[in-house]
Amino acid sequence: MIEKIRILRETALCKIKEAAGSAEIEELRVKLLGKKGELTEMLKELKNMAIDERKLLGQEANALKNELSESLEIKFKELSANDVERSLSNSSSFDISLPGTQFKVGSLHPVTIVQKEIERIFTGMGFNIVDGPEAEEEFYNFEALNIPKHHPARDMQDTYWLENGSLLRTHTSPCQVRAMQKYGAPLKIIAPGRCFRNESTDASHENTFFQLEGMMIDKNISIANLIYVMKLLLSEVFNRDVEIRLRPGFFPFVEPGFELDLNCMICGGKGCPTCKHSGWVELLPCGMVHPNVLRAGGIDPEEYTGFAFGLGLTRLAMMKYGINDIRVLNSGDLRMMEQFSIR
Ligand code: DAH
Repeated sequence: MIEKIRILRETALCKIKEAAGSAEIEELRVKLLGKKGELTEMLKELKNMAIDERKLLGQEANALKNELSESLEIKFKELSANDVERSLSNSSSFDISLPGTQFKVGSLHPVTIVQKEIERIFTGMGFNIVDGPEAEEEFYNFEALNIPKHHPARDMQDTYWLENGSLLRTHTSPCQVRAMQKYGAPLKIIAPGRCFRNESTDASHENTFFQLEGMMIDKNISIANLIYVMKLLLSEVFNRDVEIRLRPGFFPFVEPGFELDLNCMICGGKGCPTCKHSGWVELLPCGMVHPNVLRAGGIDPEEYTGFAFGLGLTRLAMMKYGINDIRVLNSGDLRMMEQFSIR
């Protein structure tokens, strides 16, 4: 028996050494150590032997088993590495110097770029970014903003009503009230988002557009704070001095309310369809938060004051990039959208 083990060892090691491919090693492993392998069979015979003999031969056979599986593994690794190398250098169709597959990288929408830019400016001033639902409750879209039922101010916003009684929000202002209720005062938030109105579309009107609401509430906030923040915002966005004008504006949720207009950058103020031939574009309606709105948000107007603004994000993107028709922004035309993104 011991002689058998010795012979098996020599022939097996020799075959392993001479094996030419990893598949051959696998064959050898099965032949030697598999369920019906030569060494396995030998180990089975042990049980018929006398105890002393069994002990001695058992040790020998197990040592051989370990030795063989170790050399099989070493040889297998060596051969697999060779296989890869060979297939890389032999195959004429594989040129490792060729550039890899190019993945098409998308680009950011102009409105998204402007939104991100404004978020950067405001978070730098300690504002938080908040969100609200696009399908909004009537209370938040109107009542809480001091626009009661049957108030004529509702006519300014032709609304899409949903069958369940809620509506597609006509502005981002409902986010003001939700934020006040959630966080209380003092408060510094911006709320960018999509809004909807039942508009007939033309170069400057769309039924779906983006606004960015802003609100700051604290003790002793005044119009001076409002004007400072608005000026800082616009000079950062346009990277230069911009011409603006302030005029009184009516919005039920602010008192006093203002319209901040920007000199039309499409036509330089001469008049074009985008500015409705006036030379000015309404960009930033704003004002001091109405006491009723503070109350709806659970904040005491005797203790706190604040300002709010509703920036037309879509319009701002048009001004910044000289886009003269709002409709292209929702058109999904990639030739148009790809021009603005930094890739
Ligand atoms: N929500 C108004 C609109 O869409 C815009 C607006 C005006 C927002 C004045 C404000 C504000 O926060 O103070 O027409």
